[in-house]
Amino acid sequence: MDREFTANPSQKEMQEAENAFHLLCGDDYTEADVIIDRFSQNSHRYEKVLGKMNFSGHTQCAQSAADWFPKNRHDVYILDVAAGTGLCGDELRSQGFRKIDALEPSVQMLEEAKKKGIYGRYFSVMLGENSVDIESDTYDAVTISGLTVVIMKKLPRKAFEELIRIVKPGGYIINATYHKIFPEDGDAEGAIFRNNMKALESQGKWTLVELRRFKDYLCGDDGAVSVHKVL
Ligand SMILES: C[S@@+](CC[C@H](N)C(=O)[O-])C[C@H]1O[C@@H](n2cnc3c(N)ncnc32)[C@H](O)[C@@H]1O
Repeated sequence: MDREFTANPSQKEMQEAENAFHLLCGDDYTEADVIIDRFSQNSHRYEKVLGKMNFSGHTQCAQSAADWFPKNRHDVYILDVAAGTGLCGDELRSQGFRKIDALEPSVQMLEEAKKKGIYGRYFSVMLGENSVDIESDTYDAVTISGLTVVIMKKLPRKAFEELIRIVKPGGYIINATYHKIFPEDGDAEGAIFRNNMKALESQGKWTLVELRRFKDYLCGDDGAVSVHKVL
């Protein structure tokens, strides 16, 4: 049994899990590379910490992927972005998807994912201003489950343009995150994210085909899965 988090956690264990969780989340002032380093340091206990926080982003993200690909899922080629230890990849496999690659900047998180043997290719890459070394029009879909929200909110438009570039026209970008960053009157820090979503739509690069709100994404907050169709 894990010595840090047991099946019936004591108050102390819950407190430790919460502390680890808040450290991983960072805040609006924490640099992206600091957060990624924290994931690396905590890769061995990431799944237990998120389990204690009742995280459901991975199941909701995979459910939406299944909804948008009702047939022939074994032929659908997916890139799981911010793949972490492979929680979303696991759920995608449970839904019948078989061709899944992983993109994740933390080598230690990727090492945990590799133990599961669920991904084909591994890209140790951070989404941002950089180009991603993947051919255009490669994937039928990109999934993103739980990309740290303070990072998501500040991602430059280039990051989304890269995802659009590597997804085939007609494919989908499926993103499970907090609901609160989507509404126009949502938190001010989410304005860059919302502007990026809209600008790419008005430039004719993608179109929003679903925004599904759900309960209990993380620590009791509502989540949402956005599904953008690449044009
Ligand atoms: C909360 S975990 C989610 C992992 C996994 N998708 C899941 O559902 O459990 C967030 C992950 O996002 C990764 N991440 C952070 N910034 C990123 C970026 N700019 N590009 C890609 N992944 C990033 C972190 O390294 C971390 O593994």
